[in-house]
Amino acid sequence: MKGKKLIAVAAGAVMAFTLAACSGSGAGDDSSADATTSAAPAESNGGDAAMEKGTIGVAMPTQTSERWIADGDAVKKGLEAEGYTVDLQFAGDDIPTQSQQIDSMITNGSQLLIVAAIDGTALSGQLEAAAAAGIPVIAYDRLIRDTPNVDYYVTFDNYKVGVQQATSLLVGLGILNEDGSEGDAEGPFNIELFAGSLDDNNAFFFFNGAIDTLQPYIDSGVLVVPSGQTEIEQVATLRWAQETAQKRMEDLLTANYASETLNGVLSPYDGISRGILTALSNAGYGPTIADGMPVVTGQDAEIASVKLINDDVQFATIFKDTRKLAAQAVVGALSFLDGAEPEANDTTTYDNGVKVVPSYLLDSDIVYKDNITSLLVDSGYWTADEVASGVAE
Ligand code: GAL
Repeated sequence: MKGKKLIAVAAGAVMAFTLAACSGSGAGDDSSADATTSAAPAESNGGDAAMEKGTIGVAMPTQTSERWIADGDAVKKGLEAEGYTVDLQFAGDDIPTQSQQIDSMITNGSQLLIVAAIDGTALSGQLEAAAAAGIPVIAYDRLIRDTPNVDYYVTFDNYKVGVQQATSLLVGLGILNEDGSEGDAEGPFNIELFAGSLDDNNAFFFFNGAIDTLQPYIDSGVLVVPSGQTEIEQVATLRWAQETAQKRMEDLLTANYASETLNGVLSPYDGISRGILTALSNAGYGPTIADGMPVVTGQDAEIASVKLINDDVQFATIFKDTRKLAAQAVVGALSFLDGAEPEANDTTTYDNGVKVVPSYLLDSDIVYKDNITSLLVDSGYWTADEVASGVAE
């Protein structure tokens, strides 16, 4: 029955000409819509057919990281510009909340889902229901695993992001120059490694790209990992949480650095980087890199971290232009809604355990202090004032 309703809507704009006021639900980033979840609404919400083009469900993981807020807003605006209503939900990094939000999107008649999963393996049940209802599913930034019911994946070249993170660490230590040529520094340097959340497929791609880049230097003794913790399971950070990273950094310092000096930390995400920097600063490192703060990497070009880079506290981050990602998700969604297959530029890399998901990969850049302006300000991602204040306006 859900399928019938969807097909009626998805059959094309021709059939969706009922013009009436939109319900207004989900038109913002409030999450109050989940309160209405129940088993019944599939048949009782005929009101959604009243929208000119129908509703698209957008499920984002959390608002604690500003990137997901920007991602959600950009996808929403892009789809609204095409005449769709958007049910945008954030799940507070809570898996049951996200599952419930997706259930509601399906029962409320969403025509298509765009999902950035909290736990990439936890949505099989929801996506089975989506498939039964004929609802295409786009995995957003994070691959959804262990299900045949994901149709398209928009993301960045995540292995390359990991290579870039490791490269920025090597540049910060002076082993490489920014142009990729050999630097003057010979080491040995003490480093520690951090990875993201093991339930996020991206964490493995980032870590693999990074460790493949660092391993030759570890093998030759230029880089030393005093804790001995070099496996992803040992260095992972559940939910990418800043406090968790801070605690692990504190423990690492206590256990391994009573008489050693730490020179660098591979960090996969700016929130984790800030936790690491807090621990380092509390332990007396810094305050700036010039004063002995270890070289700390990052990802996402979050404004608080861009300011830290500008202030010579964090060494680098990776800029993934979420505006481009959101635009590609919208392009993919429109293709599905037109009954076509969206363009993929990678059909081999992202095996989700059941199938290789056709993917569209975008490029990323390393941000150093000296290219903040060219990469982030000139492109309009952040203003010069935001970089100076560390606060998004
Ligand atoms: C990853 C994402 C990163 C970062 C991290 C923590 O999935 O690719 O860019 O945002 O989650 O939110």
